[in-house]
Amino acid sequence: MKFSELGLNDELLKAIKRSGFEEATPIQEQTIPLALAGKDVIGQAQTGTGKTAAFALPILQNLEKQHNTIQALIIEPTRELAIQTQEELFRLGRDEKARVQVVYGGADIGRQIRSLKKQVPAILVGTPGRLLDHLKRKTIDLEAVNTIVLDEADEMLDMGFIQDIESILSYVKNRKQTLLFSATMPKPILHISEKFMNNPEIVRIKAKELTADLIDQYFVRAKDSEKFDIMCRLIDVESPDLAVIFVRTKRRVDEVNRGLQARGYNAAGIHGDLSQARRMSVLKRFRAGKLDILVATDVAARGLDISGVTHVYNYDIPQDPDSYVHRIGRTGRAGQNGMSVTFVTPNEIGYMRTIEQLTKKKMEPLRPPSDDQAFRGQLKVAKSKIEDLMKEDLSKYTQDANELLENYSAVDLASALLKNLSKDSSKVEVKISSEKPLPYKGGGRRSGGGRGRGHYGHGSRGGHGSRGGYRGGDRNHRGGDRAHGHGGYRGDRSRRSGGGHNFVIKNKKD
Ligand SMILES: Nc1ncnc2c1ncn2[C@@H]1O[C@H](COP(=O)(O)OP(=O)(O)OP(=O)(O)O)[C@@H](O)[C@H]1O
Ligand SMILES: [Mg+2]
Repeated sequence: MKFSELGLNDELLKAIKRSGFEEATPIQEQTIPLALAGKDVIGQAQTGTGKTAAFALPILQNLEKQHNTIQALIIEPTRELAIQTQEELFRLGRDEKARVQVVYGGADIGRQIRSLKKQVPAILVGTPGRLLDHLKRKTIDLEAVNTIVLDEADEMLDMGFIQDIESILSYVKNRKQTLLFSATMPKPILHISEKFMNNPEIVRIKAKELTADLIDQYFVRAKDSEKFDIMCRLIDVESPDLAVIFVRTKRRVDEVNRGLQARGYNAAGIHGDLSQARRMSVLKRFRAGKLDILVATDVAARGLDISGVTHVYNYDIPQDPDSYVHRIGRTGRAGQNGMSVTFVTPNEIGYMRTIEQLTKKKMEPLRPPSDDQAFRGQLKVAKSKIEDLMKEDLSKYTQDANELLENYSAVDLASALLKNLSKDSSKVEVKISSEKPLPYKGGGRRSGGGRGRGHYGHGSRGGHGSRGGYRGGDRNHRGGDRAHGHGGYRGDRSRRSGGGHNFVIKNKKD
């Protein structure tokens, strides 16, 4: 459906056009008219299907610009998500000069207070802790707030946050509308939410599966001690544009990140113990394609919208099945394809089952690539780099090149170049400390489990189809130096994931 049929004003339609959105997604189509009409809404739809704009657009339209009060409050579970949402609101509300501000922890509160004093925002986005801090200091006034949004609502109403949310709500004396959005909405939470909502309309986008349709989901059975080497080989063969690796603990983030760097990958880690400045700079570099791999705890599992994430690796399987849905949802967004690989140790099979029951989708077994296949993957990347180099002006090297050619054969020189540009990563030994395993959860056997279908046995040699099919030319402007080396394997995948989804998001990347 066209956005123009949803009752949005011209400024917003202009901003939508500028964003490159051609058609409203199903969640937008169904919730925007309800929210515009002032109804309470619970919106559940797959990751990456535009839930942010689904609440942002009606809020922007319903603002009384001349009122110098906070009229809408959006609560987000993480600082990064708060920032991202503020940015999207700012982008969409630019033509109307909507005043949007964001407050989050780990940043200088004095500065936030000064900025709130200078200009009262019409829309405030924030994380619960920092919002409460401001409320206690009386540096924000929520009396005039009409609309409250709980993004990632199930998380906000779960044990960790519910008390904070209740406290915040107690300051919003004239709340007229409550909007809840998430990709997951477990029943008990739904019940909680209905208690403080007013006759909410529940919009649940019916999809065959809970996870986004465009994500191919695999699992690898491996012992904890084997995971790191296997993952490196997978990365070599897959050569993701951008990958997110989720691990269970902060220590693991640091260790896996250091291990990847030692093997020559362009990685960085993010977790809650890092300074906010560090977290922001890592994410900024990742968004800009200056980093290829982000190693993260669940702090990055929800909501982050980073275009070009082609792969999600669950180095550690999540304990909570909802978390799986959000984690892998960092790929396969806005109509793009994606792939997820979840490592499962023998005693974690039960967790995988629980996940599959929730998602209604089976993960396909994936056989770990051999060292040789990984090496071939590396070489393919190196060759691609050489091809790029050949396009540059090399004239000032000619004389020395000729000197080298007098002493060495062209084959030896090319081999040396390949050696230099590829990292034979298996040579660097990396040991990741073991973590307490998840408590055993029965599972039983599963046919085919762990043996894989042998994707790498064929296809990865074929020169044809290189860079083929899967993401088109879109990847070229990513700066990452590993962004090369598509092979027959990908071509294979693009065929597989062709028609699986039941709606299409059209956007500028198509
Ligand atoms: N109608 C549309 N057409 C094309 N792209 C869109 C449309 N609406 C939103 N997008 C883009 O889709 C991407 C994902 O949107 P968004 O982050 O809002 O997803 P989400 O549903 O909130 O996902 P999550 O559950 O992970 O939070 C964003 O880059 C956004 O700009
Ligand atoms: Mg979201």
